[in-house]
Amino acid sequence: MTLCYLDGAFLPLAEASISPMDRGFLFGDGVYEVIPVYSRRPFRLDEHLRRLQQSLAAIRLVNPLSVDEWRNVVAHLVAQAEWDDQSVLLQVTRGPMAQRNHAFPATVKPTVFGLAEKLHTPPDEQRKQGIAAISTADIRWLRCHVKATSLLANCLLRQMALEAGCAETILFRDGILSEGAASNIFVVKNGVLLAPQKNHLMLSGITYDVVLELAATNSLPTEVCDIGDAEVRAADELWMTSSTKEVLPIVTLDGKNVGAGRTAGRPGPLFQQMYGWYQDFKRTVMRG
Ligand code: PDD
Repeated sequence: MTLCYLDGAFLPLAEASISPMDRGFLFGDGVYEVIPVYSRRPFRLDEHLRRLQQSLAAIRLVNPLSVDEWRNVVAHLVAQAEWDDQSVLLQVTRGPMAQRNHAFPATVKPTVFGLAEKLHTPPDEQRKQGIAAISTADIRWLRCHVKATSLLANCLLRQMALEAGCAETILFRDGILSEGAASNIFVVKNGVLLAPQKNHLMLSGITYDVVLELAATNSLPTEVCDIGDAEVRAADELWMTSSTKEVLPIVTLDGKNVGAGRTAGRPGPLFQQMYGWYQDFKRTVMRG
């Protein structure tokens, strides 16, 4: 039986219900986090809770729980779930309203939801052979740093990739790389790891931060900068990162091989290194 957290109580998911007048349902008026859990230890929980606080502040919602309360919710969900590796969803919406109205209700009672699901890390084959991506214009709003539940554009963009037989869509805003439909994107060129600058056009990824930290620890040169369309297409390597996918190599973009020479269309050597560092880092977290 899958247990969830809803508005102060833990209950079977099958028994959980919210009002159809919930602003999360009617307007996508809410924010969320997805936290990976390895061997029942949440990975970077403090950072996820900090970003949740930032998202709530950005949509003008008071955090309904303290950090300790959030930690307890997560601990309880993780302990109850049947798997050792999990993906924990935390979601807060602006709650129900008496009548449909864009304006905030006079009294806001947020809906708070938590759920632990089985973590599906990418199959080995995707890591060994790499994934295919397409690219398109970033059609989303100008608050992409907010981890909002209103994900219609992201869903359409991810679906576009899947229907083209690819795994991710890389987004460009006015010719500059922003991110993927549900991931951050890195570029490797001449031995340097290039990362897009954090701003309102992309989500400040927790995995993005880990990758840059691991690069610094291991003396891999990095540069955080605007990355143009041409630079992405001339990349030696392209990676995508997210809490559930970790780090994955993108080996074709719009049907063309990424990279040149021996590793064209195949995962590159810096990816192999980063993947190893990432797995080692996870193991240190799991040891506690
Ligand atoms: N999404 N950018 C977007 C648009 C995302 O949706 C995600 C992750 C990321 C990567 O962020 P992080 O490393 O903190 O997971 C970047 C999650 C996994 C999701 O929506 O399921």
